[in-house]
Amino acid sequence: MHKASILIVDDQKETLNSLRRIFQREYTVFTALSGAEGLEIIGRNKITVILSDQRMPEMDGVTFLKNAYQLQPEAIRIMVTGYADIEASINAVNEAKIYQYISKPFEPDELKLVVKGAVERYNLADKNRTLQKELIKHNAVLKKENTELKTQFSQDLDLGNFIGHSPAMQKIFKLVKKVMNTPTSVLLLGETGTGKEMLAKMIHYNSNRKEKMFVVQNCGAIPDTLLQSELFGHVKGAFTGAINDKMGLFEQADNGTIFLDEIGDTSQALQIGLLRVLQEGEIKPVGSSKTIKVDVRVIAATNRDLLQDVEDGRFREDLYYRLNVFPINIPPLRERKEDIPELVQFFIEKYSSRISKQIPGITEAVLHYLTEFTFPGNVRELENEIERMVTLADDGSQIGIEELSDRFKVSRVNIAAPLSFTQLKPAIEQLEITLISNALKKTKGNILKAAEILNISRVGLHKMLKRHNIPVSEFKTAF
Ligand SMILES: Nc1ncnc2c1ncn2[C@@H]1O[C@H](COP(=O)(O)OP(=O)(O)OP(=O)(O)O)[C@@H](O)[C@H]1O
Ligand SMILES: [Mg+2]
Repeated sequence: MHKASILIVDDQKETLNSLRRIFQREYTVFTALSGAEGLEIIGRNKITVILSDQRMPEMDGVTFLKNAYQLQPEAIRIMVTGYADIEASINAVNEAKIYQYISKPFEPDELKLVVKGAVERYNLADKNRTLQKELIKHNAVLKKENTELKTQFSQDLDLGNFIGHSPAMQKIFKLVKKVMNTPTSVLLLGETGTGKEMLAKMIHYNSNRKEKMFVVQNCGAIPDTLLQSELFGHVKGAFTGAINDKMGLFEQADNGTIFLDEIGDTSQALQIGLLRVLQEGEIKPVGSSKTIKVDVRVIAATNRDLLQDVEDGRFREDLYYRLNVFPINIPPLRERKEDIPELVQFFIEKYSSRISKQIPGITEAVLHYLTEFTFPGNVRELENEIERMVTLADDGSQIGIEELSDRFKVSRVNIAAPLSFTQLKPAIEQLEITLISNALKKTKGNILKAAEILNISRVGLHKMLKRHNIPVSEFKTAF
């Protein structure tokens, strides 16, 4: 650390000299015979402690220290004063923000101690200032990050990001907009990966409950007793291990939204609890005799046939009707193939920007395969495949057949006519597929004969069969 500096102001040269002797070993010492001279020194040097006499001709000590404060407020000011002046100096403590005053005559050791304390105080304050600056900077960064995250989040949850221009999805958006700002329970139905959870989030974050919590509970994933305590909370001693009261998700989501995934997997006991929330707006923590009022919007989801569960006695009928006030059925991807190109583009952008790659789309041939695929895993499956392909693709080039996973390459034998393409390459590929299929049909899957018809080598045909993923065995049986 720098040597601390001390400025001593006194109109008597002998005093200055003796004080210099006291302090010069430990500190950088400046001396001044008048306030004016002292101010000049302060103007040019960084001072840790200022020691000033009160009685001086021209400028008195209080006035000098007041001016000194204007120049270097962080310097610690000490006033040296005779007994007679103490009364007058009291004001100075406030006016010139004086740290301490010392009465004459003083012991050198006493003065040393006071100055030492002043230096320590200066260093502490200095550290504080640095920390504060860092804190302010840090806060600004955090604030910026926070707003960025917030905008990103709200953008992500914009209904516009829920891709779907197909009539089926447009119908769903209309329904969502109608129910959004109501307290009505919503039941989201649809196969796995159709976007139920995403839609639930969108409903919450676009609704008038968006400032409050959105909580998610998968009802299929955990044992029933645990699930009850998760959702409704428990009181201390309700069961072994319940060492404290615990607040349930319903309470946490008060005035917000709860998303209950896999609602069809709940037990009868839990269903009773859910019915109570939906009907009375109250919950009963496990082990408690008291109920608690809550206002929570319930969005439930399942990919099971709930009505069938009701018929089979697995799901309470009354709860089913409570939940089913506003059902939204998200159709599987294969029933809204129109959405596939847009989803593909959306996910390509999402994943390529993540790894800063330029991917100008996919080839027509890949899109053909994708639109023909049945997608048992729906949008999630498509999303995962695009992520994979974006990772594999070369920067700057389109995603091609080479990147597509084999399971998507279902036979295009009966699919597109070559002239339905606009690009030459996929059209030629399709022409190859069609001619080869025709030859295979004629020869009932005999590769040697088919190669003769096509006037290519058997090895060449084999390669093509493999490249186009044409299932020869199908021709052996089907035709
Ligand atoms: N219309 C869509 N637009 C954009 N992304 C979508 C769309 N639908 C689904 N996704 C994406 O697909 C993935 C699966 O969606 P989500 O988790 O909401 O499905 P889910 O119906 O809840 O599935 P599960 O029944 O398996 O829980 C998510 O990454 C989601 O972002
Ligand atoms: Mg889900």
